[in-house]
Amino acid sequence: MNTFRHFTDLSSIPSHDLRGILDDARARKLRLKSGTETQRPLAGKALAMVFEKPSTRTRVSFDVGMRQLGGETIMLTGTEMQLGRSETIADTAKVLSRYVDAIMIRTTEHARLLELTEHATVPVINALTDDTHPCQIMADIMTYEEHRGPVKGKLFTWTGDGNNVLHSLMEASARFGFRVNVAVPEGSEPAQHYVDWANANGGEVRLMRSATEAVKDADCVVTDTWVSMGQEHRARGNNVFQPYQVNEELMSHAKSDALFMHCLPAHRGEEVTDAVIDGPNSVVFDEAENRLHAQKAILAWCFGA
Ligand code: CP
Ligand code: NVA
Repeated sequence: MNTFRHFTDLSSIPSHDLRGILDDARARKLRLKSGTETQRPLAGKALAMVFEKPSTRTRVSFDVGMRQLGGETIMLTGTEMQLGRSETIADTAKVLSRYVDAIMIRTTEHARLLELTEHATVPVINALTDDTHPCQIMADIMTYEEHRGPVKGKLFTWTGDGNNVLHSLMEASARFGFRVNVAVPEGSEPAQHYVDWANANGGEVRLMRSATEAVKDADCVVTDTWVSMGQEHRARGNNVFQPYQVNEELMSHAKSDALFMHCLPAHRGEEVTDAVIDGPNSVVFDEAENRLHAQKAILAWCFGA
């Protein structure tokens, strides 16, 4: 019997499973750090990693993670595949499924991920689309809880552009039971259906215009680039976003022990100042590290390993 599972979006996976993945990630991290890891549950398995956009963290953490689980990886760049010469996603899914045991994809339109999922006969993992970035948010929840304990009931404030990372953060608000204040300039709002889904499924997302108001009493302040990959044509200049920059003044309105998060890569001096990203409450490199541990747990979950 085929019992694999796809890791597409946080909204498509029950809370219980997501919590189980985080528990497993923490246990794997402890075993790795203490030199007591003996499990290689994906020995003999191969992961195809398809990138239609650039990456540093996702690429390296999935590659190293899969190897640590005993498996192997095959790196594929969209432009170097027939996919880049208009072979369909559906045909690509069927072909790759004959060779490898799982497919990780970073792509543009979310529909490409869903089409791959529909036609693949092996697990598919979402490594970022224009719409969502669920692996990032799993690492971020893990990071928050390592530093501050359970995330339930806490207030996260997002300031800047209403993008793919925010969409997954809002889905996580429903799945893990925390609140999200969103402060974005006019025209940069997140897609309304992500807001609606989160609020209809136990999350608590509030859209606001003032960053100062949104960060009040925040337990965690989160931002990201003002211009996501592939969105360069929509760039509207930094002036629109300047009031949403995370600097020491803005952080002073959050709780005094509020964490600062950023998925990276950061554009220092734009969405965040050096003083904040290099400051004592910044956990950006823990987030980056936890991509490795969280994704190993995601891979294991996909295989039921
Ligand atoms: N945060 C993140 O996904 O980074 P990369 O684009 O480097 O993979
Ligand atoms: N929102 C960013 C995230 C990068 C990891 C982008 O899509 O470019």
